[in-house]
Amino acid sequence: MDRKKLFNPSGDDTLSARKIIKGNSTNLFNLNNVRFQWANHLYRTMMANFWIPEKVDLTKDKNDYENLTLPEREAYDGILSFLIFLDSIQTNNIPNISDHVTAPEVNLLLAIQTFQESIHSQSYQYIIESILPKQSRDLIYDKWRDDKILFERNSFIAKIYQDFIDEESDENFAKVIIANYLLESLYFYNGFNFFYLLASRNKMVGTSDIIRLINRDELSHVVLFRSIVKEIKNDYPEFFSTETIYSMFNTAVEQEISWTEHIIGNRVLGITSQTTEGYTKWLANERLKSLGLEPLYSGFNKNPYKHLERFADTEGEGNVKSNFFEGTVTSYNMSSSIDGWEDF
Ligand SMILES: [Fe+2]
Ligand SMILES: [Fe+2]
Repeated sequence: MDRKKLFNPSGDDTLSARKIIKGNSTNLFNLNNVRFQWANHLYRTMMANFWIPEKVDLTKDKNDYENLTLPEREAYDGILSFLIFLDSIQTNNIPNISDHVTAPEVNLLLAIQTFQESIHSQSYQYIIESILPKQSRDLIYDKWRDDKILFERNSFIAKIYQDFIDEESDENFAKVIIANYLLESLYFYNGFNFFYLLASRNKMVGTSDIIRLINRDELSHVVLFRSIVKEIKNDYPEFFSTETIYSMFNTAVEQEISWTEHIIGNRVLGITSQTTEGYTKWLANERLKSLGLEPLYSGFNKNPYKHLERFADTEGEGNVKSNFFEGTVTSYNMSSSIDGWEDF
């Protein structure tokens, strides 16, 4: 797969010639002509979602943190370490994907996504600086150095992205796109739920508010990557191997469960090995259905954390009418968003 030229004078910007990848556009942002109308809608939603973490007061969280149980504090720190990795690698890697996307309306969205991932990275710094004592702040950033399971997980994710940078083949690009979809749609969510669970007990509510804003952005990234998969499939029906998608999902689910077991296990009230497995497999099934594929895990058709959805609800304060789709979407919370966003 060739990296697109920054300026391609012999390109053809007519709509009939536009392709999401392997196209021949001039790479000017001619947005008068837009092939992918969903990109217009998503652009407006993502722009309306703009936020900065400092708007959320974390004073009470600092006090709450000191009163968490040891397992809660370990989970809080460990989850932040993993989220920091996810947003770091997304901020760095999304431009590599965009370099191979030849539809300007989609490049625009990937640029906003990169910007949002940067805000997420900075918001972790704000949380850490506001809540943790000076001497333990770097421990959160450096946890992967001593935690073998975290190191292996981070390395696994990074390798899929790095493989494409090292060898820009179609096969490696297909894997990068699915890996992105998995990261955005599956990897964050056991961690997010932990924060919502604490908020449901009136603990660390400020952190949970920031996580909710991150969650709202991540859902727009889920929609973006799901749409990219669908459009690539339309243009190149053989581009993705269903077998590879299933095998990547399977690995992702196994890793997500074993990581959550490692960092939370049965040590936090409201989370058990059973709910972790049930939630992860349920979510994977939903994400597969959303790609038009059959679910992988039979019997996992209920969200065991349904009661936490109201804490994830992103319609509350700070949502300055991100609700571009008010007519069709009533809530952006985790499960309904999957259906709601379908409307575009
Ligand atoms: Fe993010
Ligand atoms: Fe994201």
